[in-house]
Amino acid sequence: MDIKGRDFIKLTDLDDGELTELIDLSLELKGEGRSRVDLEKKVLAMLFAKTSTRTRVSFETAMFQLGGHAINLKWDETNFVKGDIEDESRVLDRYCDATMARLYSHEDIERIALASEKPVINGMDDDHHPCQALADVMTIKEAKGSLEGLRIGWIGDATNVFTSLSQAADLLGMEVTIAAPDGYGPKVKTGARLVGDPARAAEGADVLVTDTWVSIGQEAEKKRRLKDFEGYTLDARLLSLAAKDAIVLHCLPAQRGFEITPEVLDSPQCLAFDEAENRLHTSKALLISLL
Ligand code: CP
Repeated sequence: MDIKGRDFIKLTDLDDGELTELIDLSLELKGEGRSRVDLEKKVLAMLFAKTSTRTRVSFETAMFQLGGHAINLKWDETNFVKGDIEDESRVLDRYCDATMARLYSHEDIERIALASEKPVINGMDDDHHPCQALADVMTIKEAKGSLEGLRIGWIGDATNVFTSLSQAADLLGMEVTIAAPDGYGPKVKTGARLVGDPARAAEGADVLVTDTWVSIGQEAEKKRRLKDFEGYTLDARLLSLAAKDAIVLHCLPAQRGFEITPEVLDSPQCLAFDEAENRLHTSKALLISLL
């Protein structure tokens, strides 16, 4: 795989072979622990317009453990808010070896990528969360051994995570069925099948996934959303319809009792905390491969 110098803005920036190699490298790095120092003296700029725990800490830890350094930049405290996105990106390029950005608008991340000569990584925008999809696929492969032919049942909102995971599933031969209320189905066309009844997405699934009903930036719609998603909670009844050895994923943070019950989130079948840990290993694999 040679993706050095490239951007990672959406999952489909990778082909199936590149994605597979990235996942395999992530698994290898997890097995090796902290032995590699591939990014000595390299610097990652991290721009955050939205809150974050996993993305921020996994990238910063990855850079540190690989011998490099990460700079955390709160969007509002930079002159991106006053200046020209392109000019500010070109300035970051003069100091740093790559930029990771979590913004609202996908278009703004594309503008940064176009203006930067160094790699730009999408740390999540309103439409895509490709870094999360890497960790999700790694977690599935770690648990199941292989991916081809697996059935993923997504319960609830077709979030940015759904889009990126669904694109990964298309590349790697997994089938996705999403159960969402009217008006909350996929925003980007993928191979995913849309159904209304959550039981239809759960039946026989190898992997059950859900995500928050109120994503960052949707707080004003909270009341309406909680009402619209009634009946779409990933609970023990839905889990009982899945394959006997099904696993459950949630990218976290979770709203316990809304999109997922505490019983399911804390069950041995739920790998949400391995999935969160795997953000570190996939961040490392991505950084080593791009920088
Ligand atoms: N899943 C995820 O991206 O977590 P954070 O929002 O905490 O980074």
